[in-house]
This record gives sequence, C-alpha cells and structure tokens, in this order.
Amino acid sequence: MATKNPFTQQLITWQKVAGRHALPWQNTRDPYRIWLSEIMLQQTQVSTVMPYYLRFLNSFPDVMALAAAPIEAVIEHWAGLGYYARARNLHRCAQQIVTTYRGFFPDSVEQLAELPGIGRSTAAAIAAFSFGRRAAILDGNVKRVLCRQFGIEGFPSATAVDRKLWMLAESLLPEGDIEVYTQGLMDLGATLCTRSKPRCTDCPVAAGCVARLEGRQGELPAAKPRAKVPERTASFVLLSDGKRLLLERRPPSGLWGGLLVPPEGVPAEVAVRLGLQLSTATKLPTLKHSFTHFKLTLEPVLCQVEPQVHLGEAGLEWVDIDKAADAGVPTPIRKLIRLVASAGG
Ligand code: ADE
Repeated sequence: MATKNPFTQQLITWQKVAGRHALPWQNTRDPYRIWLSEIMLQQTQVSTVMPYYLRFLNSFPDVMALAAAPIEAVIEHWAGLGYYARARNLHRCAQQIVTTYRGFFPDSVEQLAELPGIGRSTAAAIAAFSFGRRAAILDGNVKRVLCRQFGIEGFPSATAVDRKLWMLAESLLPEGDIEVYTQGLMDLGATLCTRSKPRCTDCPVAAGCVARLEGRQGELPAAKPRAKVPERTASFVLLSDGKRLLLERRPPSGLWGGLLVPPEGVPAEVAVRLGLQLSTATKLPTLKHSFTHFKLTLEPVLCQVEPQVHLGEAGLEWVDIDKAADAGVPTPIRKLIRLVASAGG
C-alpha cells in the first residue's frame, strides 16, 4: 500500500519479513487477549511476560471469567510481575467491561482510554490490533525510535516534546496495514533501536535516521534533566611540620564519617580550636568534588607549624606526608595531599 512517508513504508516492509510474528498475543483479533498482553507488556519485557500470560489465560480465559474472579486470585497470578496496580486495574477494567459494555470491549480509542489502566497509547494498540483502527501508539520504545529517526531534541516526556511526538506519531500512520506498522514500531524499538548499543546496521530506517547520520544515537532521546544539586564550600587547613601532616578523625556520622581528613575551617579558626601558632599560610587551588546529593568545593590552605607541638585534642594524628594519601582519607583529600607531597610538604 502506498504511503507518503518512507519511514512508514520501510517499517511495514521490514516487519513483514523480519518482525515478530509468533508471539502468543499475535494472530488473534480477540481484544481480551490483546488487552491482557498490552497491560502485561507495559513495564515488563516479552520474555518475562510470556509464561505469566499463558498461565493467566488458562485460569481466566475471557473477560467474564476475569470479572467474576476474586481479586486475590488475580493478584496471585500477577505475583512476580511487579507494578501490582496493573492487576487491580485489570480486574476493575474487566468488571467495567461486563457491566458497562455487556462483556464486549468498546472499539474506539476514546472509549478504551477511559477504562482503568488503559492510557492513550495502550488504547491505540488495542484498537489497532483488535479492530484495525488507525491510531497512533507512543510508549517509551516508540518515543526513542522517533526521537532518533527525526532528531527530536529535549526530554521526551516534557510536555512540549510529548505533544510534538504525538503529532509526529499521528502524521506517520499508514493508510492500511495498521497492525503491521504498529507491531513494526514495537519490534524495532525492542529489538534493534535499543537504548544502548542500537543495531543500526540491521535497521530498515537507518538511511533516514538523524541520530545515525549525526552519530548521536547515544544522545537521543535526551536524558531526563537532573534537578540542580546544591553546592557547598568547605575550607581545610593542611598543617605541615615539613615531614608530616596533621589529620583529624571525623565524627562517625555525617560527611566522611570516621575518616581522617585535615582539620576543617579557615586557619584562624583552626589555630584557636587546636591551640596552635600558625606561621605562613598559602592558599592552594580549589578542588571540586561531586557527591550524589551535592557538589563540594574544597578551599585548601597550607600552613606550616612548629614541629613537636603538643596536641591537646583527641582524634588528631600526625601522619607522614608520603603516607598520608593512603591513610584511609576520602578521594578529594587524597588529591590535596598528593599536591602537597609533590610540592615537598
Ligand atoms: N510491547 C508492547 N506491546 C507489544 C506487543 N504487542 N508485542 C511485543 N511487544 C510489545
């Protein structure tokens, strides 16, 4: 069948020869079987779903049987699949189909999308596979395929990008072969156009793929924007007597709990706290370090102290400069110590 877009045409041709044709929910028009598969496949991959799907159908062969079953039995058949809200919605949906539609699935995307657990994309998949409806799907895999093929920038679930993708998905629909095309999109996303290591050499739409042409398969679709992490600064005084550095064991909880680090604070504070006379103070270059929940800028100062000072405080230790980097200190502190050691203390 002639279609306007080469992407659509190539995908249909490819699905017919290289796509998946023998999955247990294919080669049927039974909306109950198709619906069940689409719900199970929402967050779970084909190989995991397969045995659950067959066992479920064995126990609940049609929508009437499922609606009449106790919820506990349904949950029991779901055990291990995860996202149990899917099982509860499935049961409620079956009951609604029995009560509202006398046991017959509605055949429009709009009516399907009003049922529990059925979103716009799942409704479209059910309508296409069961009733041959010309409707666009757009799940995570399809978003990835479209972002790469058409070079769509931005995080795919951001409202504006999502809207654009839906328009694009609608515009690509073929005049006929909707089932083949829909399955082709799913097959391409699941088998070739995978998130990491896509197999572009086997891809039927590689010739027109923006991501491939620009070598940006790893950048498209764009990752979810990270929330900005807070930034903190901390000053540390590297106290040296020429041969050794003074390190202090941190309290057990909090940042670097229990590890040895140079005393934290600016030189004047540290001198008072430790009862030391400090002579020269040299600012060292700042150092940035990323933790999971914040970024730390370390502002180190190197100070010379008289040898053989009396250490009043517990938790203080003189450590040979050459050994200090390996004395169980945190990574950015190790870098600082290396800097001091290489400068000769
Ligand atoms: N993922 C979602 N729907 C699917 C289907 N019908 N076949 C294979 N994978 C799918």
